[in-house]
Order: sequence, then structure tokens, then C-alpha cells
Amino acid sequence: MFRSSQSTSQSIAPQLKATARAGSNIAFIKYWGVANPRINLPLNNSISMTLGALHTTTTVEWDAGGRLGADEVTIDGERVEGKKAERVTQHLDLIRHLAGDRRYRARVVSRNNFPMASGIASSASAFAALTVAAVAAIGLALDRTRLSAVARHGSGSASRSIFGGYVEWERGNDDATSVARQLFPAEHWNLRDVVVVVSTAEKAVSSQNGHTLALTSPFNAARIDSLYTALQEVRAAITLRDLNRLGPVIEQDALAMHAVMMTSKPSLLYWQPGTLEVLQAVRRWREQDGLPVYFTIDAGPNVHLICEPAFERELLRRLQTLSGVRSTLTSGPGDGAETVDQHLF
Ligand code: DP6
Repeated sequence: MFRSSQSTSQSIAPQLKATARAGSNIAFIKYWGVANPRINLPLNNSISMTLGALHTTTTVEWDAGGRLGADEVTIDGERVEGKKAERVTQHLDLIRHLAGDRRYRARVVSRNNFPMASGIASSASAFAALTVAAVAAIGLALDRTRLSAVARHGSGSASRSIFGGYVEWERGNDDATSVARQLFPAEHWNLRDVVVVVSTAEKAVSSQNGHTLALTSPFNAARIDSLYTALQEVRAAITLRDLNRLGPVIEQDALAMHAVMMTSKPSLLYWQPGTLEVLQAVRRWREQDGLPVYFTIDAGPNVHLICEPAFERELLRRLQTLSGVRSTLTSGPGDGAETVDQHLF
């Protein structure tokens, strides 16, 4: 019988196997910097849009028969060992602990519908899907707020992918209060995220390590101080569906985050020549031709361009003229993480 150590969670009959799908997300105000790395307590609130077209599907089966000696993890068709597998096992440990049963090992099979090397934050969709599937399969009934807290342990940005549409992750003060909530559902505003891939090389420093470096930058405090107003602006712009109000704030925060990265000790420089080529082109197209498109950049060289559907085709046409652009992927807003009927094995 499964027990829960949390007052807000209930045990339901375990089904042992479940599959979940979760979208990646793109942050408009970034999560950068961790106050408590043990529980991924961030330095600041962040706001994102959950991506409907770029997602991870994960099946988890708990091995009640005791046949597995260790968790088994397969991602995009390949058995995963070492650090990546350890990160999954650590997350499963948390869920085993919540369910009050530490013995069960699990078989985990996960598939992304976007290339891992595209620089899209796969950890957000991966840990949101893993959380929802593992929790359902072990028979815990957690509401989305609790799922968000659990997902945060796996990857900070995964706490946001539990919810659909436009989402704010409240920094909070502890494990229970550092959770995401939905600001608006996906139907509120059909914004497009055009991901411009300029490099497929694996990044040298993971965001997991980068978060611990933020405090070493002299610009980190200045960025954090500016966020109260920036967050208010982003909430207001989303409420009013006003891209020309949203755009300048998201560009500013992406640049501020990269300024912090570049000036940490050691310095993190994620940009490639193609990154700058896209940023400059976007500004030129906006200023000279009035094309309403704004950029944001995560912990990597690829650029996310935010626009409304009416301008997507023209944007894609223009991107083809840039020498540094290798490929593009596009998504609108989508729903939060959900269990699905079709298992991967
Ligand atoms: C730059 O959530 O990927 O994409 O908790 O270590 O997995 P971990 O970090 P992660 O960090 C996201 C960083 C970012 C900004 C954002 O998505 O808010």
C-alpha cells in the first residue's frame, strides 16, 4: 500500500505504469540564479509560455516484482547512463519517498518530438513529463501546484511546464511555496515562438551549473532589482495581448541574463556569430520595415523569436536569407502536462 508523507497528497490505487506528455516552455522573464540549489529555489519569479508543438512524452513503469536492480532510462531510443541517468534516479527517489515506498525501481522511456541538439530546453518538458507519469504510475494524486513543486526539484523550468498557456513561477520561500501558477490559458493569446537554430553543438556549461554562478556576477543584483517592474510589465502586456509592450521587456531581460552569464566567474559565453546575426537582423527588420518581432535567448546560442501569427511567414522567409541560420522550429502556446493513454512500451 502506498502512503504519502504530504498532507496535500492522497493515495489512489497504483496502476504502476503511466505515460505523460509535457510541452517545453520559453521564458519571457528568465529563471537565472538559485538561492537554494538543494530544492532549486530560484532568486526570482519567472514568466513563460508553455509550447504546444515541442514536447516530451514519457512512460514510467514501476517494477513491483523486484526484477530491476536499478532504474532503467531510455531517451530518444538510447539507454542513458552516468550523470543523466543519475538525475532521473534522484527525481524518482523523491517520488518514491512521497509515495512512502523506496524499494520500487522504474523503467523510464522518454521521447522528445524535437531534436535534443536544437537547444530547446528539453529539461523543462522532460522533468514535467517524468513527474506526471511517475506520480500517476505510483498511485499518488497530486494537484498541479504540488506537481509543480515536485517537478521543480528535477529542473527549475519544469515547474512551469506543468501548467499550460502563460505561467508564472513564484520564487516562494520554501519547497511548498516555490511553485508555478497559470496566468492565462493557451487560448488567451496565439503568440508564436520561432526557434532559430544557429548551432547544434552541445553546450559547454549546463544551466544547472550556470545557476550557481549567477551570484558571482556584479550585475546579478542589478538584474534582480529591475525585475519587480519587468514582471509587472510582462503580466500587463500578456493581459492586454500587447506584443509591442511585451517585446522590449523580454529582450531587455534576455540581454540582462546574458550580461550576468558573461560576467560570472568563470564567465559563460553562450553566443555564437549566428546569434548576433539574428539579433541584429531582427532589430533592423523591426526598425526599418516595422516587422513586429522580438527576441529572447536561453542558456545557449539559439534565438527564440516571438511574433503574432500574421507575421510568421514573412519572418520565416527573411530568416532564410541569413547565412548563420541552420533550421527553425515553430510553436504556439499549448496545454499543461497531462497523462495520455498510449504508452511508449
Ligand atoms: C535560461 O530550468 O534548465 O532557460 O533547474 O538546472 O534544469 P535546471 O535549469 P533550467 O534553467 C532554465 C534557464 C533558462 C531560463 C528559463 O527557462 O527561465
